[in-house]
Amino acid sequence: MTILVFDSGIGGLSVLREARVLMPGHKFVYVGDDAAFPYGDWEEGALVERMMTVFDGLIERHAPVLIMVACNTASTLILPHLRARYDIPIVGTVPAIKPAAERTSSGQVSVLATPGTVQRDYTRSLVSEFAAQVNVRLVGAEHLAKASENFMLTGDVDEDLIRSEIAECFVDRLGAKTDIVVLACTHYPFLSQVFRRLAPWPVDWLNPAEAIARHAKTLLKEAGEVEDVQDIAEFTAGRPQPDMLRLLSGFGLKVLD
Ligand code: DGL
Repeated sequence: MTILVFDSGIGGLSVLREARVLMPGHKFVYVGDDAAFPYGDWEEGALVERMMTVFDGLIERHAPVLIMVACNTASTLILPHLRARYDIPIVGTVPAIKPAAERTSSGQVSVLATPGTVQRDYTRSLVSEFAAQVNVRLVGAEHLAKASENFMLTGDVDEDLIRSEIAECFVDRLGAKTDIVVLACTHYPFLSQVFRRLAPWPVDWLNPAEAIARHAKTLLKEAGEVEDVQDIAEFTAGRPQPDMLRLLSGFGLKVLD
């Protein structure tokens, strides 16, 4: 009854925390492909190849009943490949463009993501399929995933960098101002308080983590039955540094030696 939650780093913890609330009694294995972090500027073919190799090993070792790809940069690329190879329910994390288009009042929505995610055909087809009536601005942030990890580990934040990374999200078209910014990278919800503080005007920062966890739950065939479960974390670069171990332990995750 293992659920595998996968990200390039520790951003997927924003999805894990919602998944645990909704699917208690399952054992969670959190995996960070930190040897390849950040995914945001990888070339697509090479990234698919790398992720498939990593997943082959993970699935053999953990035999999960469900896989959650808690990374937009990965999901917008890898989902068809994973579904073709494994007969396991797989939930992805893709930019929440449809709910944003349904909720906006001003008709101005921005999608804050990694450079990889904004370039994907997948993301662009979400815009044309679900948000044709809305003005969607795709904003590729080069440094935010790293800035988020740094913030999670140290509490330090470079406000000028954050301000310049989010600036492009704010559009004012003859008084019609952006009212929703989609957090289309699982790292970003950890910075949402900082975004709120530094934003030029208030917007709804849309974090889809809970909706993703709800969807995942519908795909589980059986309820979890494991008691006193110890969730674990593993990282492709090997045993993490002490500051990371402390963070993971705060999330109730044990790193196996
Ligand atoms: N957490 C990842 C996402 O949701 C991206 C971080 C990275 O660039 O690796 O897109």
